[in-house]
Amino acid sequence: MIGNFTYCNPTRLHFGEGALQSLPQELAQYGNRVLLCYGGGSIKKNGIYQQVIEILENSGKTVIEDPGVMPNPTVEKLYEGSRLARENQVDLILAVGGGSVCDYAKAVSVSAYCEEDPWEKYYLRMEDVSCKIIPVGCVLTMVGTGSEMNGGAVITNHAQKRKIGHVFGDKVFPKFSILDPTFTYTLPQYQMVAGFYDILNHITEQYFSGEDDSTSDYIAEGLMRSLIHSSRIAVKTPTDYEARSNIMWTATWALNTLIAQGKSTDWMVHMLGQSVGAYTDATHGMTLAAVSLPYYRYICPYGLAKFRRFAVNVWGVDPNGKTDEAIAQEGLACMESWMKEIGLVMNLTDLGVTEEMLEGIADGTFVMEGGYKVLTREEILQILRESL
Ligand code: NZQ
Ligand code: ZN
Repeated sequence: MIGNFTYCNPTRLHFGEGALQSLPQELAQYGNRVLLCYGGGSIKKNGIYQQVIEILENSGKTVIEDPGVMPNPTVEKLYEGSRLARENQVDLILAVGGGSVCDYAKAVSVSAYCEEDPWEKYYLRMEDVSCKIIPVGCVLTMVGTGSEMNGGAVITNHAQKRKIGHVFGDKVFPKFSILDPTFTYTLPQYQMVAGFYDILNHITEQYFSGEDDSTSDYIAEGLMRSLIHSSRIAVKTPTDYEARSNIMWTATWALNTLIAQGKSTDWMVHMLGQSVGAYTDATHGMTLAAVSLPYYRYICPYGLAKFRRFAVNVWGVDPNGKTDEAIAQEGLACMESWMKEIGLVMNLTDLGVTEEMLEGIADGTFVMEGGYKVLTREEILQILRESL
């Protein structure tokens, strides 16, 4: 069954090799002053910066640069960018980078004219936007988060040891996003595969919930099969366009809100991973990989039918002559083999987590109620201990 919903995704996508050629037509729709946000320098090394700057100059834009957006963008950086955007009265924020830069741009877009502390308003109190929103456009260079076509913006507050995502509404989605799979070729292997796991986990977070026969779950299975197939090619040949383009498109659909429509969703792996991120500043996809198997093995009995279906429909497990439990466990074992094969971090110790941090990480883990089991604090601690 599909429950009732209203669906709108307002982001216009330009996809494929050479998609940056669409940037001038997008820029033409906005005023002159553009805040150009980017990360720690990868776009200068691989030449994307130069291409973007030339287009901005040829379009007659005044560019205000906002470099140095770090992976897992911080609240201090958000304050700095918001000031820059407001003081320069920018008409558009152009994010060139991965999920961190796209998320940051969205957070700045709603914070520049916010009259309160945006961390408190959006992240601690989870309130809606009540001020002017600056439009955002994205040129994506790292695949995984889906930030290019959603309203999510995750910010980290190291002083408070909290990493929190706010899912903003339609008005905060990027107005446009440019996705050229060749822009992702220069990603280090570690980042590339972390992104692959982020994609898979976005899908499983929305798949492992509900008991109904849902179209969304069939779409999710197709997306996961495509990702698993293409990821195996991409780790061997990172410049395989077919694989990288399939993965880029899968990542967008994994978290552009489509497969969540009409059903409940889980998101507990992300809640655990974000709390780990607040303590370690580790790469997002790796934090998810490190806690996933203990979590899924723990909740498997509570959602056995879906875990059985996952094993058969996604991993091709032969169900003949086996119990449902055995089939479900075999599916998770296949997922574990794939995770090791592509080179993911498989435990929290390798991310710098120590036994002493676990209580704090558990305290920083938001408990969601849409999955197969609402976890207690003790269960969260047990899963974290098993993830060490
Ligand atoms: O900073 P630079 O120098 O650009 O280097 C980046 C960064 O170090 C590098 N990189 C990106 N594109 C590259 C490249 N290096 C070489 N060539 C390229 N083409 O990759 C590193 C990681 O980039 P980052 O943007 O941090 O990665 P990702 O896209 O995984 O974004 C992670 C952030 O997104 C949040 C995460 O929590 C984290 O803060 N998320 C956002 C979501 C959303 N908006 O819906 C959902 C996700 O679950 C996630 O929570
Ligand atoms: Zn994620």
